[in-house]
Amino acid sequence: MKAVRPFPQKPDAIFKGTLCPLTLMDLNELWLLDLRVFTDGEAYERDTFRQLLTSPEVIARQIRNNNGHMVAFAIGIIEEDGIGHITTIGVAPEHRRRNLARIMLLSIEQGFSLCGVSTVRLEVRTDNKGAQQLYEEIGYTTTQLMRKYYSTGDDGYLMIKAISGRGWGF
Ligand SMILES: CC(C)(COP(=O)(O)OP(=O)(O)OC[C@H]1O[C@@H](n2cnc3c(N)ncnc32)[C@H](O)[C@@H]1OP(=O)(O)O)[C@@H](O)C(=O)NCCC(=O)NCCS
Repeated sequence: MKAVRPFPQKPDAIFKGTLCPLTLMDLNELWLLDLRVFTDGEAYERDTFRQLLTSPEVIARQIRNNNGHMVAFAIGIIEEDGIGHITTIGVAPEHRRRNLARIMLLSIEQGFSLCGVSTVRLEVRTDNKGAQQLYEEIGYTTTQLMRKYYSTGDDGYLMIKAISGRGWGF
């Protein structure tokens, strides 16, 4: 397992809000935020979110600011092969570089780990260097180039991380 860089201390980037589960009740707000985050035509349909959030295999997180508005979201699902899959992650443009993505990913990984998941995968566009930097910093490694992976014809990288997968223990 790769070492994870400790959280940076950036007093100018302090964010106050709440990390909590993302549920079907949040569907409308999630969809609207997703449209703001993915401006490249790759935003999910409402029904895709609905399906994901009704699946028992999903572990999803959101961050709300102190005014109660959703500012970040991330969804992970345990696939049939037992691998944890981060399907989407987004942070409102005005709240980026405050560790919100990092916090949500680590929280979902924790949830995966409690379910016995020991490998997590995700896909990222080859030109999305910021996201790749984030994933590398928290322990993901690029394992494969996937040509024309995206519906827009863009190439993607497959990135993988090993986690403890300890399951429940008392
Ligand atoms: C990618 C995204 C989720 C990152 O969210 P974020 O909350 O800003 O990320 P974090 O603050 O947790 O980033 C932690 C670290 O990752 C790296 N990082 C994150 N975004 C970066 C960027 N745009 N450029 C370079 N490094 C970046 C940095 O090392 C950062 O630490 P630092 O700010 O101390 O330098 C956000 O930019 C986003 O929503 N982008 C649009 C949607 C998207 O691309 N989703 C991912 C699809 S695979």
